[in-house]
Amino acid sequence: MAKVYVCRNWFSEELQRLSRLHDTRIWPEDGNPPRKILLNEVQEIEGLICLGSDTIDAEVINAAPKLKVISSFSNGTNNIDVGLSTSRKIPVGHPPFVLTETTADLTFGLILAAARRIVEGDSFVRQGKWNKSSHLDLPGVNVNHANLGIVGMGRIGAQVAKRAKAFNMKVFYYNRGRDFELENLLNVEYVQELKKMLSFSDFIVLCPPLTEKTKGIIGAAEFAVMKPTAILVNVSRGALVDQKALYEALKSRRILRAAIDVTDPEPVSLDDPLLTLDNLIISPHIGSAVPEVRRQMMAIAVDNLLLGLKGERIPWCANPMVYCD
Ligand code: DGY
Repeated sequence: MAKVYVCRNWFSEELQRLSRLHDTRIWPEDGNPPRKILLNEVQEIEGLICLGSDTIDAEVINAAPKLKVISSFSNGTNNIDVGLSTSRKIPVGHPPFVLTETTADLTFGLILAAARRIVEGDSFVRQGKWNKSSHLDLPGVNVNHANLGIVGMGRIGAQVAKRAKAFNMKVFYYNRGRDFELENLLNVEYVQELKKMLSFSDFIVLCPPLTEKTKGIIGAAEFAVMKPTAILVNVSRGALVDQKALYEALKSRRILRAAIDVTDPEPVSLDDPLLTLDNLIISPHIGSAVPEVRRQMMAIAVDNLLLGLKGERIPWCANPMVYCD
């Protein structure tokens, strides 16, 4: 029986599979376990289940000398020191497939909401501004037949592209590598230079993982080349975008609109100037927020943890090099 710690008391039927076999402690409250508690709880553990909002850095990993496996409920592992985990031969599990389509759905929802001003429209009606005689209320832009530039053509990017094709969009992508199979399958076009793609895209969707290379991938210089009619959508991690530059670009109408499901930090502070903008939609990191999807994410997190504790190979592993000799 190993000691394990779980950072969120979600989906108890899944967590019971863990507690039946192992000495399991679960953070009982809402939100992340406070840092001091986490550092204390990990001292004797062999397994850890965390979320994307829990910072599992060197201090936490070093505080857990017996740690054998980290299992993330979230797909993104930018909150975990994966490099240190790898050097300690600790596999980092995550659930890469189950949330792909759900997150792509939300992405497309944000594209449509920003283009057709759906959120503004709702307030407009509730504020009694709906005047039957005007046909010019809340003019939107067409999604159909527009150019879509996807930054990061992974699983979610590909699903966004697939949805875009149903809207007759012309789809371009910028990625660290080309995916010829996908290009043939979905009729999407690779663009080697990010700024070039940004310069002709009507919609720009960000879905690469957050890494040292992608941090701040969209800043003032990138906003400067975008069309004044461009709409930016971010569903990956807030830190991909320089938020000050985003504020400036929206405030000065350098670009038309943005819709973001992620901010840096999260939650966004209520006095953040971003919240004063009328051309920005913010949702609270709900890309995978469908209960059945999130239950599957926890199920995979538990499966990954159980395998890791047994010393067996984790199929969904962010650092498979731990299995190389
Ligand atoms: C993920 O799984 O990475 C989503 O962004 C939710 O954290």
